[in-house]
Amino acid sequence: MPTRRLAADEAGIAEAGALLRAGQLVAIPTETVYGLGADASDPAAVAGIYAAKERPRFNPLIAHLPDLAAARREGVFGPDALSLAEAFWPGPLTLVVPLAVGGTVCDLARAGLPSVALRVPGSRLARDLLTAAGRPVAAPSANRSGRVSPTEVDHVLGDLDSRIAAILDGGSCPVGVESTIVACLDGPPVLLRPGGVPREAIEAVLGRDLALPSAPEGAAPVSPGLLASHYAPRAAVRLDATRIRPGEAALLFGPVPPDGLAGAALSLNLSPAGDLAEAASHLFAHLRRLDAAGPATIAVAPIPERGLGEAIRDRLARAAAPR
Ligand code: TXA
Ligand code: MG
Repeated sequence: MPTRRLAADEAGIAEAGALLRAGQLVAIPTETVYGLGADASDPAAVAGIYAAKERPRFNPLIAHLPDLAAARREGVFGPDALSLAEAFWPGPLTLVVPLAVGGTVCDLARAGLPSVALRVPGSRLARDLLTAAGRPVAAPSANRSGRVSPTEVDHVLGDLDSRIAAILDGGSCPVGVESTIVACLDGPPVLLRPGGVPREAIEAVLGRDLALPSAPEGAAPVSPGLLASHYAPRAAVRLDATRIRPGEAALLFGPVPPDGLAGAALSLNLSPAGDLAEAASHLFAHLRRLDAAGPATIAVAPIPERGLGEAIRDRLARAAAPR
Protein backbone atom coordinates (compact mmCIF):
# COMPACT_ATOMS: atom_id res chain seq x y z
CA MET A 1 0.00 0.00 0.00
CA PRO A 2 1.43 3.40 -0.91
CA THR A 3 1.93 5.77 2.00
CA ARG A 4 -0.86 8.36 2.35
CA ARG A 5 0.13 12.01 2.39
CA LEU A 6 -2.02 13.91 4.91
CA ALA A 7 -2.41 17.69 4.79
CA ALA A 8 -1.44 19.83 7.80
CA ASP A 9 -5.05 20.75 8.57
CA GLU A 10 -7.67 19.68 11.11
CA ALA A 11 -8.78 16.66 9.07
CA GLY A 12 -5.19 15.54 8.39
CA ILE A 13 -4.23 15.86 12.06
CA ALA A 14 -7.34 13.94 13.18
CA GLU A 15 -6.67 11.18 10.65
CA ALA A 16 -3.00 10.90 11.64
CA GLY A 17 -4.00 10.74 15.32
CA ALA A 18 -6.55 7.99 14.61
CA LEU A 19 -3.97 5.96 12.66
CA LEU A 20 -1.50 6.22 15.57
CA ARG A 21 -4.17 5.11 18.05
CA ALA A 22 -4.90 2.15 15.77
CA GLY A 23 -1.27 1.01 16.02
CA GLN A 24 -0.22 2.26 12.56
CA LEU A 25 3.03 4.01 11.62
CA VAL A 26 2.82 7.71 10.76
CA ALA A 27 5.71 10.01 9.81
CA ILE A 28 5.42 13.22 11.81
CA PRO A 29 6.97 16.60 11.08
CA THR A 30 8.93 18.16 13.94
CA GLU A 31 11.13 21.25 14.02
CA THR A 32 14.25 19.05 13.95
CA VAL A 33 13.66 16.19 11.48
CA TYR A 34 10.72 14.01 10.45
CA GLY A 35 10.00 11.28 13.01
CA LEU A 36 8.67 7.79 12.33
CA GLY A 37 5.87 7.72 14.88
CA ALA A 38 4.02 4.89 16.62
CA ASP A 39 2.02 4.55 19.83
CA ALA A 40 4.80 4.25 22.44
CA SER A 41 2.56 2.26 24.78
CA ASP A 42 1.87 -0.47 22.20
CA PRO A 43 4.73 -2.97 21.77
CA ALA A 44 3.35 -4.27 18.45
CA ALA A 45 3.22 -0.74 17.02
CA VAL A 46 6.75 -0.01 18.30
CA ALA A 47 8.00 -3.25 16.77
CA GLY A 48 6.70 -1.87 13.47
CA ILE A 49 9.10 1.09 13.76
CA TYR A 50 12.12 -1.17 14.15
CA ALA A 51 10.94 -3.29 11.20
CA ALA A 52 10.26 -0.33 8.87
CA LYS A 53 13.62 1.26 9.71
CA GLU A 54 15.50 -2.04 9.80
CA ARG A 55 16.86 -0.74 13.07
CA PRO A 56 18.66 -2.88 15.65
CA ARG A 57 16.30 -3.63 18.51
CA PHE A 58 18.64 -2.54 21.29
CA ASN A 59 18.33 1.09 20.29
CA PRO A 60 15.85 2.92 22.56
CA LEU A 61 13.45 5.54 21.16
CA ILE A 62 12.36 9.02 22.18
CA ALA A 63 8.75 9.36 23.39
CA HIS A 64 7.10 12.59 22.22
CA LEU A 65 4.48 14.44 24.28
CA PRO A 66 2.37 17.55 23.79
CA ASP A 67 3.42 19.27 27.04
CA LEU A 68 5.38 19.02 30.28
CA ALA A 69 2.36 17.78 32.25
CA ALA A 70 2.06 14.77 29.95
CA ALA A 71 5.84 14.19 30.14
CA ARG A 72 5.70 14.16 33.96
CA ARG A 73 3.31 11.21 33.83
CA GLU A 74 6.03 9.22 32.03
CA GLY A 75 9.25 10.29 33.74
CA VAL A 76 10.56 11.61 37.06
CA PHE A 77 11.80 15.20 36.81
CA GLY A 78 14.39 16.24 39.37
CA PRO A 79 15.37 19.92 39.74
CA ASP A 80 17.81 19.93 36.78
CA ALA A 81 15.39 18.17 34.40
CA LEU A 82 12.63 20.53 35.46
CA SER A 83 14.72 23.67 34.84
CA LEU A 84 15.75 22.38 31.43
CA ALA A 85 12.18 21.43 30.47
CA GLU A 86 10.90 24.83 31.58
CA ALA A 87 13.65 26.64 29.68
CA PHE A 88 13.62 24.70 26.40
CA TRP A 89 10.24 22.97 25.95
CA PRO A 90 8.58 23.05 23.57
CA GLY A 91 11.79 22.73 21.57
CA PRO A 92 14.66 20.58 20.28
CA LEU A 93 15.72 19.08 23.63
CA THR A 94 15.27 15.47 24.78
CA LEU A 95 15.57 14.61 28.46
CA VAL A 96 16.48 11.10 29.63
CA VAL A 97 14.97 10.68 33.10
CA PRO A 98 14.02 7.80 35.42
CA LEU A 99 10.81 6.03 34.48
CA ALA A 100 7.76 7.20 36.45
CA VAL A 101 5.58 4.71 38.33
CA GLY A 102 2.59 4.16 36.05
CA GLY A 103 4.49 5.36 32.96
CA THR A 104 3.07 3.95 29.73
CA VAL A 105 6.11 3.89 27.41
CA CYS A 106 6.58 0.18 26.76
CA ASP A 107 9.72 -1.84 27.43
CA LEU A 108 10.48 -2.30 23.75
CA ALA A 109 10.47 1.48 23.12
CA ARG A 110 12.93 1.89 26.01
CA ALA A 111 14.98 -1.14 24.96
CA GLY A 112 14.42 -2.45 28.47
CA LEU A 113 16.16 0.50 30.20
CA PRO A 114 14.92 1.83 33.57
CA SER A 115 14.98 5.34 32.07
CA VAL A 116 12.92 7.02 29.36
CA ALA A 117 13.79 9.67 26.73
CA LEU A 118 11.11 12.40 26.57
CA ARG A 119 10.64 15.35 24.25
CA VAL A 120 8.01 18.06 23.75
CA PRO A 121 8.64 19.23 20.18
CA GLY A 122 8.70 22.90 19.20
CA SER A 123 6.59 22.28 16.11
CA ARG A 124 2.99 23.35 16.74
CA LEU A 125 1.77 20.85 14.17
CA ALA A 126 3.61 18.04 15.95
CA ARG A 127 2.07 19.01 19.30
CA ASP A 128 -1.41 19.16 17.78
CA LEU A 129 -0.89 15.67 16.41
CA LEU A 130 0.38 14.44 19.80
CA THR A 131 -2.72 15.88 21.44
CA ALA A 132 -4.88 14.13 18.84
CA ALA A 133 -3.02 10.85 19.41
CA GLY A 134 -3.64 11.15 23.16
CA ARG A 135 -0.67 9.02 24.13
CA PRO A 136 3.14 9.17 23.99
CA VAL A 137 4.42 8.72 20.46
CA ALA A 138 7.74 6.96 19.97
CA ALA A 139 9.60 8.42 17.00
CA PRO A 140 13.13 7.96 15.76
CA SER A 141 14.14 9.86 12.65
CA ALA A 142 12.03 8.67 9.70
CA ASN A 143 14.82 7.19 7.61
CA ARG A 144 16.07 3.65 7.13
CA SER A 145 18.67 2.84 9.75
CA GLY A 146 22.09 4.26 8.90
CA ARG A 147 20.81 6.67 6.25
CA VAL A 148 20.82 10.45 6.35
CA SER A 149 18.01 11.92 8.51
CA PRO A 150 14.96 13.33 6.66
CA THR A 151 14.05 17.01 6.75
CA GLU A 152 11.53 16.96 3.88
CA VAL A 153 8.52 14.82 2.89
CA ASP A 154 10.34 13.48 -0.17
CA HIS A 155 13.26 12.30 1.97
CA VAL A 156 10.85 10.26 4.10
CA LEU A 157 9.00 8.79 1.12
CA GLY A 158 12.30 7.97 -0.63
CA ASP A 159 13.24 5.72 2.31
CA LEU A 160 9.88 4.50 3.62
CA ASP A 161 7.15 4.73 0.95
CA SER A 162 4.74 1.77 1.30
CA ARG A 163 6.36 0.79 4.61
CA ILE A 164 4.30 3.26 6.68
CA ALA A 165 0.59 4.12 6.66
CA ALA A 166 0.86 7.90 6.29
CA ILE A 167 2.95 11.05 6.51
CA LEU A 168 1.65 14.34 7.91
CA ASP A 169 2.99 16.96 5.51
CA GLY A 170 4.61 19.76 7.49
CA GLY A 171 6.98 21.02 4.79
CA SER A 172 10.69 21.40 5.61
CA CYS A 173 11.96 21.04 9.16
CA PRO A 174 13.35 24.43 10.24
CA VAL A 175 16.05 23.33 12.74
CA GLY A 176 17.40 20.51 10.59
CA VAL A 177 19.46 18.55 13.14
CA GLU A 178 18.01 16.24 15.79
CA SER A 179 17.32 17.28 19.36
CA THR A 180 20.04 17.68 21.95
CA ILE A 181 19.85 14.74 24.40
CA VAL A 182 20.64 15.34 28.07
CA ALA A 183 20.45 12.60 30.69
CA CYS A 184 19.26 13.74 34.12
CA LEU A 185 19.63 10.54 36.14
CA ASP A 186 21.73 10.31 39.27
CA GLY A 187 24.72 12.65 39.26
CA PRO A 188 25.25 15.75 37.14
CA PRO A 189 23.39 16.12 33.81
CA VAL A 190 25.22 14.43 30.92
CA LEU A 191 25.25 15.50 27.27
CA LEU A 192 24.43 12.32 25.32
CA ARG A 193 24.06 13.94 21.89
CA PRO A 194 24.66 17.51 20.71
CA GLY A 195 21.67 18.85 18.77
CA GLY A 196 19.26 21.68 18.14
CA VAL A 197 19.75 23.40 21.52
CA PRO A 198 23.39 24.52 21.79
CA ARG A 199 25.40 23.22 24.74
CA GLU A 200 26.16 26.80 25.83
CA ALA A 201 22.44 27.58 26.29
CA ILE A 202 21.92 24.46 28.42
CA GLU A 203 24.97 25.14 30.56
CA ALA A 204 23.75 28.71 31.13
CA VAL A 205 20.46 27.38 32.54
CA LEU A 206 22.16 24.73 34.68
CA GLY A 207 24.82 27.14 35.90
CA ARG A 208 27.52 24.55 35.24
CA ASP A 209 29.18 22.54 32.50
CA LEU A 210 27.49 19.45 31.10
CA ALA A 211 29.29 16.22 31.88
CA LEU A 212 30.36 13.87 29.09
CA PRO A 213 29.13 10.28 28.95
CA SER A 214 31.52 8.02 30.83
CA ALA A 215 31.51 4.56 29.29
CA PRO A 216 33.97 2.21 30.93
CA GLU A 217 36.05 0.29 28.38
CA GLY A 218 33.98 -2.49 26.78
CA ALA A 219 30.75 -1.43 28.45
CA ALA A 220 27.57 -0.73 26.50
CA PRO A 221 27.42 2.95 25.50
CA VAL A 222 25.14 5.11 27.67
CA SER A 223 23.11 6.02 24.60
CA PRO A 224 23.16 2.81 22.62
CA GLY A 225 21.91 4.52 19.46
CA LEU A 226 25.04 6.53 19.14
CA LEU A 227 26.77 4.09 16.82
CA ALA A 228 29.83 5.62 15.18
CA SER A 229 28.63 5.20 11.62
CA HIS A 230 25.24 6.83 11.32
CA TYR A 231 23.86 9.45 8.97
CA ALA A 232 25.87 7.76 6.24
CA PRO A 233 25.64 8.93 2.64
CA ARG A 234 26.88 6.52 -0.05
CA ALA A 235 29.87 8.77 -0.78
CA ALA A 236 32.88 8.92 1.54
CA VAL A 237 33.02 12.13 3.58
CA ARG A 238 36.23 14.13 4.13
CA LEU A 239 36.05 16.72 6.92
CA ASP A 240 37.80 20.08 7.39
CA ALA A 241 38.83 20.10 3.73
CA THR A 242 40.53 23.25 2.46
CA ARG A 243 41.53 22.10 -1.05
CA ILE A 244 39.41 20.15 -3.53
CA ARG A 245 40.71 16.83 -4.95
CA PRO A 246 39.75 15.34 -8.32
CA GLY A 247 36.27 13.78 -8.42
CA GLU A 248 35.11 15.34 -5.17
CA ALA A 249 31.88 17.24 -4.57
CA ALA A 250 32.07 20.04 -1.99
CA LEU A 251 29.88 20.97 0.97
CA LEU A 252 30.73 24.58 1.74
CA PHE A 253 30.20 26.88 4.70
CA GLY A 254 30.57 30.65 4.63
CA PRO A 255 32.36 32.68 1.97
CA VAL A 256 34.46 30.49 -0.33
CA PRO A 257 38.10 31.48 -0.70
CA PRO A 258 39.01 31.41 -4.43
CA ASP A 259 41.98 29.08 -3.88
CA GLY A 260 40.02 26.73 -1.58
CA LEU A 261 37.14 24.33 -2.30
CA ALA A 262 35.93 26.64 -5.09
CA GLY A 263 37.27 24.29 -7.76
CA ALA A 264 34.67 21.57 -7.18
CA ALA A 265 32.51 20.66 -10.19
CA LEU A 266 29.54 20.25 -7.85
CA SER A 267 29.12 22.18 -4.63
CA LEU A 268 26.40 23.36 -2.24
CA ASN A 269 26.82 25.95 0.50
CA LEU A 270 25.24 25.29 3.92
CA SER A 271 25.23 29.02 4.61
CA PRO A 272 27.08 31.52 2.40
CA ALA A 273 26.75 34.05 5.24
CA GLY A 274 28.35 31.65 7.73
CA ASP A 275 25.22 31.36 9.90
CA LEU A 276 25.21 28.10 11.91
CA ALA A 277 21.41 27.86 12.32
CA GLU A 278 20.95 28.23 8.57
CA ALA A 279 23.69 25.64 8.03
CA ALA A 280 21.98 23.13 10.35
CA SER A 281 18.67 23.57 8.53
CA HIS A 282 20.32 22.67 5.20
CA LEU A 283 22.70 19.96 6.41
CA PHE A 284 20.82 16.74 5.65
CA ALA A 285 19.11 18.00 2.45
CA HIS A 286 22.45 19.18 1.03
CA LEU A 287 24.17 15.91 1.97
CA ARG A 288 21.40 13.97 0.22
CA ARG A 289 21.57 16.16 -2.90
CA LEU A 290 25.35 15.93 -3.24
CA ASP A 291 25.23 12.18 -2.61
CA ALA A 292 22.57 11.71 -5.31
CA ALA A 293 25.05 12.98 -7.93
CA GLY A 294 27.24 9.96 -7.11
CA PRO A 295 30.63 11.51 -6.21
CA ALA A 296 33.22 9.17 -4.66
CA THR A 297 33.82 11.69 -1.88
CA ILE A 298 32.15 14.75 -0.39
CA ALA A 299 34.73 17.27 0.86
CA VAL A 300 33.38 19.37 3.71
CA ALA A 301 34.67 22.85 4.55
CA PRO A 302 35.71 23.58 8.16
CA ILE A 303 32.74 24.41 10.40
CA PRO A 304 33.23 26.13 13.76
CA GLU A 305 32.60 24.07 16.92
CA ARG A 306 30.53 26.71 18.76
CA GLY A 307 26.71 26.82 19.10
CA LEU A 308 24.91 24.59 16.59
CA GLY A 309 28.32 23.90 15.03
CA GLU A 310 28.84 21.18 17.64
CA ALA A 311 25.78 19.23 16.39
CA ILE A 312 26.66 19.82 12.73
CA ARG A 313 30.22 18.61 13.25
CA ASP A 314 28.95 15.60 15.23
CA ARG A 315 26.65 14.50 12.38
CA LEU A 316 29.37 15.05 9.77
CA ALA A 317 31.88 13.08 11.83
CA ARG A 318 29.41 10.18 11.95
CA ALA A 319 28.86 10.47 8.19
CA ALA A 320 32.65 10.27 7.77
CA ALA A 321 33.14 7.34 10.16
CA PRO A 322 34.29 4.00 8.71
CA ARG A 323 31.39 1.65 8.00
O1 TXA B 1 15.06 15.41 17.02
C1 TXA B 1 14.96 14.25 17.39
O2 TXA B 1 15.38 13.87 18.49
C2 TXA B 1 14.28 13.25 16.43
C3 TXA B 1 12.83 13.71 16.25
C4 TXA B 1 12.03 12.76 15.44
O3 TXA B 1 12.25 13.94 17.50
N1 TXA B 1 14.36 11.92 16.94
C5 TXA B 1 15.52 11.21 16.98
O4 TXA B 1 15.39 9.93 17.45
O5 TXA B 1 16.59 11.66 16.62
P1 TXA B 1 16.50 8.80 17.31
O6 TXA B 1 15.80 7.54 17.64
O7 TXA B 1 17.14 8.88 15.97
O8 TXA B 1 17.51 9.09 18.42
C6 TXA B 1 17.18 8.79 19.77
C7 TXA B 1 18.43 8.71 20.60
C8 TXA B 1 19.20 7.45 20.34
O9 TXA B 1 20.57 7.77 20.18
C9 TXA B 1 18.98 6.62 21.60
O10 TXA B 1 20.04 5.78 21.89
C10 TXA B 1 18.79 7.72 22.64
O11 TXA B 1 18.05 8.70 21.97
N2 TXA B 1 18.00 7.25 23.78
C11 TXA B 1 16.68 6.97 23.80
N3 TXA B 1 16.31 6.52 25.02
C12 TXA B 1 17.40 6.54 25.80
C13 TXA B 1 17.67 6.19 27.16
N4 TXA B 1 16.70 5.75 27.97
N5 TXA B 1 18.93 6.33 27.61
C14 TXA B 1 19.89 6.81 26.80
N6 TXA B 1 19.72 7.15 25.50
C15 TXA B 1 18.49 7.01 25.01
MG1 MG C 1 18.28 8.83 13.66
